[in-house]
Amino acid sequence: MRNDERIESQINKLEEKYKNSGQDLSSYLDGLLYQKYLTYWDYIHLDTLLSIQVPRTHFPDEEIFIMYHQITELYFKLILHEQKQIVEDRSQDLQYFIEKVNRINSYFKALISSFGIMIKGMEREQFLRYRMALLPASGFQSAQYRMIEIYATPLENLVHHTERESFSDKNSIEELFEQIYWKKGATDLTTGEKTLTLKQFEFRYTPRLLRISNQVKKSTIYHKYLQLPEEHRKNEQLIKSLKEMDVNANVNWPLMHMGSAYRYLAKENKEVDATGGTNWKDFLPPSFQKIIFFPTLYSENELDTWGKQWVDHIFNPAKKR
Ligand code: HEM
Repeated sequence: MRNDERIESQINKLEEKYKNSGQDLSSYLDGLLYQKYLTYWDYIHLDTLLSIQVPRTHFPDEEIFIMYHQITELYFKLILHEQKQIVEDRSQDLQYFIEKVNRINSYFKALISSFGIMIKGMEREQFLRYRMALLPASGFQSAQYRMIEIYATPLENLVHHTERESFSDKNSIEELFEQIYWKKGATDLTTGEKTLTLKQFEFRYTPRLLRISNQVKKSTIYHKYLQLPEEHRKNEQLIKSLKEMDVNANVNWPLMHMGSAYRYLAKENKEVDATGGTNWKDFLPPSFQKIIFFPTLYSENELDTWGKQWVDHIFNPAKKR
């Protein structure tokens, strides 16, 4: 096709498109004439992105702390982007499911392998000072982290392990949500008093988290897996990818994260308090919380030893992991 013929055919198609929605092509062509060329910096809103690292103290390492949290939240957003597509999918296409879960895993792997930026990349002395200007804020208040859990598995699997036996899908979403593990972690068990960090988080996000929990009541990633035809459910690649996601989200990332708490907050005799007010040595270990998104994919032994590698790491550092 000659160039002028191609342009004529494109104009005809455009005319058709705009006519169908009651619009005038000529006005849109004027708009095209006057429009500025797109630039890289406008397209990705670079100036905005680089203007939101605002430290509260003069310690240079605080900027690393802010930026790495922001990077993590963007990866959380990528993970949620894939999770939502799985939850909304009606095709039950096996390859599609595997592809989405593999993407989630590649985002988690990037987060896990980069966590050294937090563990080794800041001076402890600076960290222990600037954190005092951040009270009572804590990564505990990451709503996207909570959403990743809610999209992945039914709420009964997120109930605190001491209560998990007593709750099931027969309970209402509101009842299950009240028993979610992280609420217990930030509550004084003797007085029943919630930490300020938790109270503020609940005030800001409870309606939204409940809305999402209700929306995915029967369509979390685990439900989507269980609803697949049997031959798909038995697919080895899918099972491998889902188990990898579970371990990335509930063991490997938490262990890297816990490494940073040990580096900055653990002392020989007395621990430094966490900014969120949890008893972090009991709250953070994956083997204590035992959050497992897809429990029927594991053997009894795998369930029993969930996240146990940290025990070896802390108490038997010589033993190979
Ligand atoms: C020096 C680096 C870090 C330290 C020392 C640290 C410490 C802690 C501590 C002690 C807690 C327990 C809650 C509390 O009482 O505050 C916590 C929770 C949490 N932090 Fe961090 N954190 C660090 C970096 C990060 C980063 C980069 C993120 C990324 C968003 C993050 C996300 C979270 C999340 C999601 C929780 C809740 C975990 C759960 O409920 O299982 N943290 N952190």
